[in-house]
Amino acid sequence: MASEQRLQADIDVLKQISELCEGGTTRIGFTSEYRAGAEYFKSQMERAGLSVREDSIGNVYGRLEGIEVGKPAIVSGSHLDTVRCAGAYDGIAGAVCALEAARMLKENGVMLEHPYEVMGIIEEEGTRFGQVLLGSKFAAGHFLDPDKDLMKDSRSGQTLREILKKYAYPDACPALRQTNEIAAFIELHDEQGPLLEAEGTDIGVVENIVAISWLTVTVTGFAGHAGTVPMPLRQDAATGAARLISYIAEYTTVKYAYSATATIGRMQLIPGSSNCIPSRCVFTIDLRSGKMSNIEELIQSIKAKAAEIAGECSLEIHVNIDSRQEPIKMDGGLRDLIKQSCEKLGYSYRDIDSGAGHDAMIFSSRWPAAMLFVPCVKGITHNPEEYVHPEYLVKGADVLYQTILALDQKE
Ligand code: HGY
Ligand code: MN
Ligand code: MN
Repeated sequence: MASEQRLQADIDVLKQISELCEGGTTRIGFTSEYRAGAEYFKSQMERAGLSVREDSIGNVYGRLEGIEVGKPAIVSGSHLDTVRCAGAYDGIAGAVCALEAARMLKENGVMLEHPYEVMGIIEEEGTRFGQVLLGSKFAAGHFLDPDKDLMKDSRSGQTLREILKKYAYPDACPALRQTNEIAAFIELHDEQGPLLEAEGTDIGVVENIVAISWLTVTVTGFAGHAGTVPMPLRQDAATGAARLISYIAEYTTVKYAYSATATIGRMQLIPGSSNCIPSRCVFTIDLRSGKMSNIEELIQSIKAKAAEIAGECSLEIHVNIDSRQEPIKMDGGLRDLIKQSCEKLGYSYRDIDSGAGHDAMIFSSRWPAAMLFVPCVKGITHNPEEYVHPEYLVKGADVLYQTILALDQKE
């Protein structure tokens, strides 16, 4: 059985490794706080007897060798970065439970046929460069070395390569994983939704992960004095953006109700003085749906409305598509193993879809991948109040451990 004490201790330490923010955790990829969190996780993997390495993009690994040399590894883990002012479990729970499974293998004197690797993944949230799932995309080859010059930090404007010059270790191993290195990827995550808790179900076995597209909209007008420019003569970037944003919310709600979401997560007004008509407004849109066709239709509708508002208000409105991620189906064979593990342990489970994006989406493009969810209180996440009861972490780690054993025998 997994150790509640060890699991909770790792969660509590990582929760504290953060930039200053009210009551939550902020650990953004490639920052000094992220470095401290990664070093803590590496030290815990070393203490557990794993051989530890870091790759050239900042992902960290702990490895237990298998009986048979040359077999591909069973990999489990999740992301160690957070959104700003996050809770303590999003990503972290999966990395910590993957480490706990390694401790259980050592404790029980179990040597698998396959190597087992624990993975702490960098920059899943996409906060730095507007690219979600960045660490896993470099591991799976969706991003390659030249891409490091194309990505610019949303705040400093530095390229990823410039940031890595200070962040990455000179002896880092390559980020790109070869096909024959990995047998399967299994990710535990808190549900980040209300279903499991509401039903009193122990484990969610993820079937589909939602399609996601991120856009950046730049509205350009003309700066002017708040008191001397009459309303009909303004080219006001803020009011133009406001019209487009309310259209996006209304259109998505009316047309898609519960089958798509549109979220404006970040917005900036330039020059940003109270007595100055904004010349520019930049905001982000996060679109999600189980069907990519819904997202494509939403993009077309947003672009058409933007053109209409630009014409009416003498503005320029540019809609940039920053990223597109197709919906993903998790591996059926692995899902069955997770269910068998739940039955073996006597834990309740159900099929469930994910409205949140996860690293498993990216691994599934190259290797069999699956996810298991544990309940979180009221589905609260991306919020300091996110909470997973320790006994659910234990159950999740137990199921993960049994699934690893079963997969090792099956392959
Ligand atoms: O955005 C997401 O769904 C995840 O939290 N990265
Ligand atoms: Mn998240
Ligand atoms: Mn996450």
